[in-house]
Amino acid sequence: MTAQKSVYIKTYGCQMNVYDSDRMTDALVPLGYRETDSLDTADLVILNTCHIREKAAEKVYSELGRLRVMKEERALEGREMLVGVAGCVAQAEGQEILRRAPSVDMVFGPQSYHRLPEIMERARLGVGVVETDFDGDDKFEVVPAPARQAIRARGVTAFLTVQEGCDKFCTFCVVPYTRGAEISRPVGKVLAEAERLAAAGVREVTLLGQNVNGYHGEGPDGRPWGLGDLLRRLAEVPGLDRLRYTTSHPRDMDADLLAVHRDLPQVMPYLHLPVQSGSDRILDAMNRRHTRDDYLKLVARIRAARPDIALTSDFIVGFPGETEAEFAETLSLVEEVGFAAAYTFKYSPRPGTPAASLGDQVDEAVGSERLLRLQALVNRQQQAFSASMVGRTLEVLFEKPGRYPGQLIGRSPYLQSVVVAADAARIGTIARVTIEDIRPNSLMGHLVDAPAEAVDVAGAGGWS
Ligand code: SAH
Ligand code: SF4
Ligand code: F3S
Repeated sequence: MTAQKSVYIKTYGCQMNVYDSDRMTDALVPLGYRETDSLDTADLVILNTCHIREKAAEKVYSELGRLRVMKEERALEGREMLVGVAGCVAQAEGQEILRRAPSVDMVFGPQSYHRLPEIMERARLGVGVVETDFDGDDKFEVVPAPARQAIRARGVTAFLTVQEGCDKFCTFCVVPYTRGAEISRPVGKVLAEAERLAAAGVREVTLLGQNVNGYHGEGPDGRPWGLGDLLRRLAEVPGLDRLRYTTSHPRDMDADLLAVHRDLPQVMPYLHLPVQSGSDRILDAMNRRHTRDDYLKLVARIRAARPDIALTSDFIVGFPGETEAEFAETLSLVEEVGFAAAYTFKYSPRPGTPAASLGDQVDEAVGSERLLRLQALVNRQQQAFSASMVGRTLEVLFEKPGRYPGQLIGRSPYLQSVVVAADAARIGTIARVTIEDIRPNSLMGHLVDAPAEAVDVAGAGGWS
């Protein structure tokens, strides 16, 4: 029997990378690797990277610099340490990574994880391996059967990728190039994975896709199923109490999906629906294929279907040519909608995307100042949304121990962290919690059936 080795995977970027990192770990189990959270002792280190903004991509190179030093020290001790770069930087930069960071043994893009065993074998021969083909094979299905069986629960909530890639080609975005064309996994495969997760104790599943609401996987009837159909089917899986999905594109939010939000109690009242800008001219230059008015009308329809829904969004400020007046339209859209939270980004020109070669790039300082103004507004809305929870009783799914003994952290239907004094035996269960206070990143509450003293314990820990 070969000696047990360990793999350390560092994950950057979106939830899809989190999901992929777990699948890579699963695929490495048959090769004799187990997961470790100790970089110092790992035999194999994989950076699962993100290329979305320049800062994200540059982080990878500084990390590789540190790994080079570690690898040299290991070599002196006669111990092996393989270094792999996976994810979107791997896909976008390929060979360039080996040139800039010669200590890297293998570079492989997001569509080649099923070839990991073979990639590792080649890397051991000492020549840098670069694997960035989109061969059309299903990376989720070609993982050897034992590894698929190994897909295991890592808690009471889990991600499940149902769709990957993007055909939308927003002019600022690298995703269509790094993840390739849109594909949807067949309903049967998704269902099998969901059932396995539920059997392993998962109560809440978040379906993932770059355009998850554009899902059109082949159904058991041989016809393409939309995301609404898929959610209805998943709601029948025993034990799956909560369903979420992300990220959605406003164009693909169809009437059936709205009906699902109205009708299915398992589908949580939370929707991440990036709009990017409130200006029609900018939306057009971004190739978003919807107007400000389209978005506002859609929000009204969503709220008609599910009045309490928490809406969140992504914004880019300082897109090339954005004027102060156009930026003000973004602020006014935020005012008009009222978001529960939002991610705000300063535009970052990305190699190979159409917007990067536009002439009128916005001055750095102007972009930074706009970002601050937008963030201030979004933060106010987020605080107001949290504050509106005080006094309400919410159903909380308990996930893990809190920072202090006797505390648990759970999640509200609106995806807020909720800190409660409760026994660890409640992990994996849903209970009613009355919210009594808010913290910057969480809500504090007490079990509806808990004695009053327990409440004081929860609040007394100096949580901030
Ligand atoms: N399909 C997903 C894309 C994930 S990228 C979606 O539509 O949400 C996540 C967010 O990163 C995008 O919504 C956008 O706001 C931001 N982003 C993408 N490219 C960017 C760039 N070049 N500069 C700054 N922010 C960017
Ligand atoms: Fe990028 Fe636009 Fe596709 Fe989202 S929809 S991944 S922002 S190209
Ligand atoms: Fe980043 Fe790739 Fe996700 S660029 S945001 S890791 S799809």
